[in-house]
Amino acid sequence: MIDRLTLHNFKAFQHAEIPLGPLTLLTGLNSSGKSSVLQSLALLRQSHESGDLAVSALLPEARRAGLRTSVANQGFLLNGELVGLGTGEDVLHEDFTEDDEKPPIGLAVDEGPYHYGWTAEYEPEQNLLPLLDADLPDTSEGGRERPAGPEAVTPAFFTAPFQYLHADRISPAEFYPRDHQVAVGRGFLGVRGEHTVNFLRHHRDSTVPAGPLRHPKAVSDLLIDQTAAWMGDLCPGVDIRAEAIKGTDAVSLSYGFQGTLGATRRRRPSNVGFGLTYVLPVVVACLSARPGALILLENPEAHLHPQGQTQMAMLAASAAAQGAQVVMETHSDHVINGVRLAVKQQRLAPGQAVFHYFRGDGAGVDFVSPQIDADGMLDQWPSGFFDELENTLEQLIG
Ligand SMILES: Nc1ncnc2c1ncn2[C@@H]1O[C@H](COP(=O)(O)OP(=O)(O)O)[C@@H](O)[C@H]1O
Ligand SMILES: [Mg+2]
Repeated sequence: MIDRLTLHNFKAFQHAEIPLGPLTLLTGLNSSGKSSVLQSLALLRQSHESGDLAVSALLPEARRAGLRTSVANQGFLLNGELVGLGTGEDVLHEDFTEDDEKPPIGLAVDEGPYHYGWTAEYEPEQNLLPLLDADLPDTSEGGRERPAGPEAVTPAFFTAPFQYLHADRISPAEFYPRDHQVAVGRGFLGVRGEHTVNFLRHHRDSTVPAGPLRHPKAVSDLLIDQTAAWMGDLCPGVDIRAEAIKGTDAVSLSYGFQGTLGATRRRRPSNVGFGLTYVLPVVVACLSARPGALILLENPEAHLHPQGQTQMAMLAASAAAQGAQVVMETHSDHVINGVRLAVKQQRLAPGQAVFHYFRGDGAGVDFVSPQIDADGMLDQWPSGFFDELENTLEQLIG
């Protein structure tokens, strides 16, 4: 699990060290840096997946040579499958853009006792920022014990199951892509959830392990039935079907609703409403998460009614309780309260839920981190932190 993320000269952050827990909620005003936190993790993962951060190969020579010059073809890959951040100019914290020196851009993660850091050179026009230096666990004699080999200097989250769902996800459609390599080979749902239906079709019979993730009212432990049961909590009475379409590279999705005569009527997603299709990738990401997985969710509450938002938070809390690490950006009181309830109901330990409230003050970003107790109570409510209901009520009643 990633315990801490460090951002240096990255977008809105001049320097921030952000503790992460099994379930981390990133909250705050618009444009306060929440998505940038998710993007930095996605950027590292994307750079590693494309081979641009093959630091284990680079490290020994770099160290020996005391390298501070850029390393060919190694660095932060700004535009890729997970994020498209533009060029160095877009990414460098803007306080530096006027300077003619080349300020470094740094990202680091701590996983337990291990610290992994990467520093890249600022290149305004480039979308691969060359790596200057890597600060990785020392595996040489006297360093911390870690097995030798390429994995010795690779963070677990580079190779662990991973999902990242953007705020802008798939809309209801008749057909979805059937890409075996992405959905089945890599188990990736796509940043817009576009591979979810195919993933669900392929993995329909895998079981959801016992624990809070397993819905008690589902007809079975199979992923398809568990998904239907959780979806039914978000939208009562629904069931889902994901099928391959013969002779095509597409899969179809349909929803069933219990009719008044007891028969289930099947409906196309486009006739069912946005919310259901929009949340399906979130539900499948949480239900299919296994211990060690990292799940990044941007505004998972989008298009859900308040009760559904609370349930969705319960689901995310359950995934975290069963060993996945979930980091989500949210604007929803109901999501916050759903997590508080999950703690109170002992689905999740208080220490497993981390809340951050980001505040941009024009010059940069800072954040405060209310702590939750076993009753689901928060120790502080900074101004602007989910106080709008009270503020409005005060004016209405006053
Ligand atoms: N290179 C940069 N330097 C400084 N600030 C930046 C830079 N790039 C983006 N920002 C700022 O970051 C904020 C956007 O952050 P984002 O993570 O998308 O916010 P949120 O998800 O909280 O709405 C905006 O305030 C924007 O001005
Ligand atoms: Mg955002």
